[in-house]
Amino acid sequence: MATFRTSQPGSAADPSVPHLILVGLPGAGKSTVGSALARELDRSFLDFDAEIARREGMTISEIFAQKGEPSFRLLEHALTDELRAHGGMVLAPGGGWVGRPETVALIRPPARMIYLRVRPRTAINRMGRSVATRPLLGRPDPVGELERLLKERRGAYESADYVVDVERVPVNEVVRRIVTALQQ
Ligand code: S3P
Repeated sequence: MATFRTSQPGSAADPSVPHLILVGLPGAGKSTVGSALARELDRSFLDFDAEIARREGMTISEIFAQKGEPSFRLLEHALTDELRAHGGMVLAPGGGWVGRPETVALIRPPARMIYLRVRPRTAINRMGRSVATRPLLGRPDPVGELERLLKERRGAYESADYVVDVERVPVNEVVRRIVTALQQ
């Protein structure tokens, strides 16, 4: 069975417990909220980009530049496929993971999907200078680029089981809202 470098050792491998997947635009806080949520729920946390970069021995930007976006999407697909044999993890795929329904369908259902909703401008502000190093955003108008991506992806994001607004909401409050939603 494949091993993942998770940031929380919690209960990872019970395939009967659905994964929780955090989706949303880059800058929505998927990794930060994901690791805090995993800690709160005593689950393992997997950041897809970090795992893919580790396995490939390249940064995500290098993968995009040298192999192209379609290859990156196939790596996301393969990683998602591996996760079918596991369960109960908190997963944070990159913002474009929802763009391939055949990838999402590998694990959802039964996985539950949580959309962290943020405005493109807020997301770009949060990213600070790292915007320039992001493969899809290092362009003259990153806010416009994120708006375009949101338009493309909004339907997929909003098909989530839970939608949580993260605009001006501290991480611990976002986690509390997710935990409350999951209990209902
Ligand atoms: C992408 C988002 C990035 C990363 C890649 C593509 C996207 O992840 O997977 O640059 O298509 O929105 P984050 O959402 O974690 O920044």
